[in-house]
Amino acid sequence: MITTHKIIFKDSKRMKELIDESIDLVVTSPPYPMIEMWDQIFAKQNEKIDRALKKKDGAAAFELMHQELDKVWVELYRVLREGGIACINIGDATRTIDSHFALYTNHSRIHTYMQKLGFSALPAILWRKQTNAPNKFMGSGMMPPGAYVTLEHEYVLILRKGNKKEFETNEEKKLRRESSFFWEERNIWFSDVWMDLKGTSQNLFDNKTRDRSAAFPFELPYRLITMFSIKGDTVLDPFFGIGTTMFAAMAAARNSIGYEIDRDLREQIMSKSSGIVGFSNQRIVERLEKHLAFVEDRSQTKGKFKYANNHYLFPVMTKQETDLIINGLLSIEQIDMDSFDVAYSDKPQKEYVGIWDEYILSDSDRKDMKKRISPKKRKKSHEQKQLFE
Ligand SMILES: C[S@@+](CC[C@H](N)C(=O)[O-])C[C@H]1O[C@@H](n2cnc3c(N)ncnc32)[C@H](O)[C@@H]1O
Repeated sequence: MITTHKIIFKDSKRMKELIDESIDLVVTSPPYPMIEMWDQIFAKQNEKIDRALKKKDGAAAFELMHQELDKVWVELYRVLREGGIACINIGDATRTIDSHFALYTNHSRIHTYMQKLGFSALPAILWRKQTNAPNKFMGSGMMPPGAYVTLEHEYVLILRKGNKKEFETNEEKKLRRESSFFWEERNIWFSDVWMDLKGTSQNLFDNKTRDRSAAFPFELPYRLITMFSIKGDTVLDPFFGIGTTMFAAMAAARNSIGYEIDRDLREQIMSKSSGIVGFSNQRIVERLEKHLAFVEDRSQTKGKFKYANNHYLFPVMTKQETDLIINGLLSIEQIDMDSFDVAYSDKPQKEYVGIWDEYILSDSDRKDMKKRISPKKRKKSHEQKQLFE
């Protein structure tokens, strides 16, 4: 298997390189309106923004900045396939303008606009972005009522274009089964609050417009890509930055396309690409190791597992995980100035293939169990199963 990755150094308000309905998933994080580090980037796109800021009209600046982002959201709707999902990482902003402190609710402005475009909102994720800054508490200290709550979370808005994606051919269905994730990963990833993401280095070298990358942690796009697309799908990031979404797509065996307005970031992106094979394989090994630890732990408290994975042979919780395989990366090749191919192994990592018979119910165990479950209980569990199908 090979995936392709392309960076287009252009404004994403007009993604003419992409035909309608050609993208399966969007994972992105725009510049955040009313966060000072992005003022210049927005002001370059519309001079009225600079004027509103100079006039200290926060509400007008906020709206004008969002109107620039709106143009990208319109393009996203065009290029996403029916059933495709857009995941938008966004934080609100607090700012004091002319002695007036206010919260600028970026997440709700984007959410409302996307729904007006025709997207359906799905439950969103809130992730904890803890700050240890000594001056993190704002306002009147210990004296009520003028102290303000600190913003230590961001949102991942999740929106879908049209109805659920259909998988029709046998090949699509097979790829979908192979792209499944572990039951215990599902229990954490599909919770609406993520407390376990660690921040990432923000250093940028030689950049004329800003000194911080504003990159999100690798784990954020890696999870979202694994949750909302299948291998071989194409993931778009219209606000590419230093390419975290592309590197996560490489690790997850998806194709990717990114748009970035700031050409100065090219060198930093290229310098990161050389380490991606080792980095991704390490994250894959970590997932497999965590699964084996889960198996050991659960077997001690709950006994044997019902299912075995067909590739690794280790136990898994559900039938949906039996074809799961996480393809290791073999190599990355730079094709031209701004694109890469990544090659993958189609075999399971041999260190993780083993015999786990004593952890998995045998056919005779199953027969015994069936005998032990009373007909009344069996009827109830059948009814419950139907509820979830
Ligand atoms: C918050 S950063 C994204 C960081 C990225 N998620 C990462 O991990 O590196 C937003 C990026 O969008 C870029 N940008 C802003 N407006 C843009 C536009 N209209 N078209 C393309 N890129 C844009 C900025 O230069 C910046 O690099």
